[in-house]
Amino acid sequence: MTTNTKIVPRENGPLVVMASPILRDQSGSEIETKDVVALCRCGKSANKPFCDGAHEAAGFSSAPDHSKIRNAAVTYQGQVEGVDVTISYTPVLCSHAGECARRASGVFKPSEKPWVQPENGTLTEIMDVMAGCPSGALRISLGDQPAQHMTTGDVEITVEKNGPYHVKNVALEAEFNGMGASRTKYVLCRCGASKNKPFCDGTHYEEGWRDDQD
Ligand code: SF4
Ligand code: FES
Repeated sequence: MTTNTKIVPRENGPLVVMASPILRDQSGSEIETKDVVALCRCGKSANKPFCDGAHEAAGFSSAPDHSKIRNAAVTYQGQVEGVDVTISYTPVLCSHAGECARRASGVFKPSEKPWVQPENGTLTEIMDVMAGCPSGALRISLGDQPAQHMTTGDVEITVEKNGPYHVKNVALEAEFNGMGASRTKYVLCRCGASKNKPFCDGTHYEEGWRDDQD
């Protein structure tokens, strides 16, 4: 992690990124940016992903709704290749990007109960999902090791189409809610409707928020 890159959420305003790292869109293309940049998080800017001041007219509130934040995590256990695997999932942190079901459809089955079935996968598949989960909603413990997030890659911010910011290895000046929230990878709300601001809680997905909406 670089020491001087950080994100400072402004009260009722944008996310200010200092010493901004490379900003990418979902396809991996670079978005031109500056050293200090303000990113929209009210969902209303006409110049997304950048702030154009629309939050003021919109009366945007950046306060999380603590009455709706469930900090709890759910755990799922199974034997995989002779190893006791415990996967922990904190729903409020999940951005519903679906990377888990895409990478290991036999293990992560959103339409079934339980939705996580570790014994149906290989260790390689499961570790790949842990690395690919952008939000830190998933943690893994092998045997009696402590639960961990797998954060790989560089300092980066990726703008998901019709969705949130995926952040890796950037310091964030905010209170972290959600059991086991990661400090090295997290997903920040861009639509303005999350109950767990500044983090995404998947509301954009439920409400069908789109980039071309203002
Ligand atoms: S954030 Fe993680 S747990 Fe949630 S859908 Fe994406 S990969 Fe799955
Ligand atoms: S981007 Fe706002 S809840 Fe996900």
